[in-house]
Amino acid sequence: MKKKIFSGVQPTGNLHLGNYLGAIKNFVELNNDDENKCIFCVVDLHAITVNQDPKELKNNIRETVATFIASGIDPQKSIIFNQSKVSAHSEAAWILSCVARMGWLNRMTQFKEKAGKDKEKASIGLYSYPVLMAADILLYDTTHVPVGDDQKQHLELCRDIAQKFNNDFKTDNFFISPEPLIQKEFSRIMSLKDGTKKMSKSELSDLSRINLTDEKEQIINKIKKAKTDALPLPTTIKELDSRPETKNLIGIYSSLTGLTLEKSVEKFAEKNFSEFKESLTQILIDKITPISNEIKKLLSEKNYLDEILTEGCKKAEIISAEKIKKIHEIVGF
Ligand code: TYM
Repeated sequence: MKKKIFSGVQPTGNLHLGNYLGAIKNFVELNNDDENKCIFCVVDLHAITVNQDPKELKNNIRETVATFIASGIDPQKSIIFNQSKVSAHSEAAWILSCVARMGWLNRMTQFKEKAGKDKEKASIGLYSYPVLMAADILLYDTTHVPVGDDQKQHLELCRDIAQKFNNDFKTDNFFISPEPLIQKEFSRIMSLKDGTKKMSKSELSDLSRINLTDEKEQIINKIKKAKTDALPLPTTIKELDSRPETKNLIGIYSSLTGLTLEKSVEKFAEKNFSEFKESLTQILIDKITPISNEIKKLLSEKNYLDEILTEGCKKAEIISAEKIKKIHEIVGF
């Protein structure tokens, strides 16, 4: 069966190793399989659920497209577009927000984390964010959604919304419940400063993450300063459970080299961190600096990036307009 793939990335700057290993690397593999139809969306409507500087947002939209391409996504094979330019997304999000239940949204852990203690001051958009995400996915009859582990709950909500819409309007299989594609291992890359916290673009310290635009010297410095513990490297995977920073660094190494966690542990068993960090730094430089250089090159070709978005928007518009038309008929507009 042909897979219909849809995924999105927020253009909020500082795309990092977590975005790459958790999602974008998987996008590239799916894009390379000619059996798949892939759509990759720069979710700028999601980005404005928290404050954005308009000028920076514009640059970050282009930088996200540049990152997709620099990582290996082929715009001839996959549709790349930005969400705000295809109005069906906002429209479907409203209709689906009349299907989704408050109780379902109240359970979303990402909202709780992002809103923090003062949730009265969070935007309504931040709260209803997962409904817009469901609209993104359902408009394209998506069968599979490649994401990092942190988006799992949002995908379950998307499936619930699809089912409720189908039940409420007695339209069996009108919306397809998508399957998440989450890597079994390394689906959550953690901060370099705290192995219990997710690597994130909103973390204040830049030393907590490897950005996809980092240069060689920055990578060397960040891995040198990455938190470890006082013991030598473990001999068994089991030992990693009580050593979150070590687990994360070995996980990053495994994910980049394609080795299993077991094999990586075996390779560095009882070695000291300086030796392991040297190997990790080298593999990061080998994988990330070509992407970083290509992003910088592409950013100087603004017209090329804008053209990709314009072409992608046209294609996305055709598919989503057809679906929205059917939604109107079903709802009774
Ligand atoms: P966003 O922009 O926060 O992240 C983009 C992708 O990167 C993954 N990711 C991680 N994976 C592993 N470890 C990490 N530390 C890490 N940090 C981020 C995310 O899981 C995600 O796959 N809501 C989504 C964007 C979205 C979307 C969609 C995704 C909007 N509509 C429709 C899929 C389908 C988000 O905020 O991603």
